[in-house]
Amino acid sequence: MIPNTDPYNRTFKNLRVSLTDVCNLNCVYCTLGNEDDIVADHRPQKNASFFLNLIVKLHQQLNLETIRLTGGEPLLYRELPQLIQGLNQQNLHQIQMTTNGYLLARQAQALKNAGLKSVNVSLDAIEEDVFFAITKRKNVNKVIAGIDAALNCGLTVKLNAVIMKGINESQILPLLDFAFSKNITIRFLEVMAMGHLYTNTETHFVAQQQILDTIATKYSFTQKDRQLSATANYWQTTCGQTFGIIANESAPFCHDCNRLRLDAKGNIYGCLSNNNPIAITPDLDDFALTQKLQTAMQQKQLFKFTGSSLSMLQIGG
Ligand code: 5AD
Repeated sequence: MIPNTDPYNRTFKNLRVSLTDVCNLNCVYCTLGNEDDIVADHRPQKNASFFLNLIVKLHQQLNLETIRLTGGEPLLYRELPQLIQGLNQQNLHQIQMTTNGYLLARQAQALKNAGLKSVNVSLDAIEEDVFFAITKRKNVNKVIAGIDAALNCGLTVKLNAVIMKGINESQILPLLDFAFSKNITIRFLEVMAMGHLYTNTETHFVAQQQILDTIATKYSFTQKDRQLSATANYWQTTCGQTFGIIANESAPFCHDCNRLRLDAKGNIYGCLSNNNPIAITPDLDDFALTQKLQTAMQQKQLFKFTGSSLSMLQIGG
């Protein structure tokens, strides 16, 4: 039997692939900022045919709808254009990427040519000093140049902004205005209990309602209908601009989650809340893969995210 659904009618239609667990930023919600040694050591990466074989195998059982390439930072993955091209040749055309955008300016056109459709760029601050406070890197302009390059070559662009109390709440309106000025959809994220924040999100938690209250000081808006399996809820301003909030805590979306994760080592996970990696290899027979997918399906939470000792860096954003 093909493990397409669980008892709650949830499916695996959206595969997120972490191509590397290395990142060139040190965002405070992901790392403790002492990861320079990891960035410096050039850890071996799995080659494009490794990922391609696993993805094709998963696609044969799951009839995947979208593939989101992520990390770590996917732009650090050396064979990124080759992988995207390979996926397209396998009739997997809905290829998306989540990136910090820092190296996007010089790669956007090549990735678009390879067949990439859209990018979600993580941008948590517009002001340089706040950008530095979050990422421990200078030059927010590099990310903005990456966004412009992606727009110029016809990629669909969305922004993700994690909002943390005491760090970047001041950026909610500037980020929103920036997104509106470029006609890009922005989604604000409630911070999630992952990695070193597993037992300590309260200090920095900003709830969806607080984000809405801030936006309401400048804009009037109404909520839109939620799309099936969407992570974000969306609102429309009276001027017709759209923004979203991924409110993992205030508005959980486990009940119709359709995501499966593949990490940079070849493990699958059915849920962000679950730290138990399920190793898969291209030579698995169909029966064995079906069983592993069923195990992954059982990992899904029914109600809400319960936290994880893995950060997005490790399990994939
Ligand atoms: N909480 C909320 N969002 C996070 N991201 C990474 N770690 C966390 C966290 N602990 C974001 C990234 C990226 C998206 C996939 O998730 O910034 O935009």
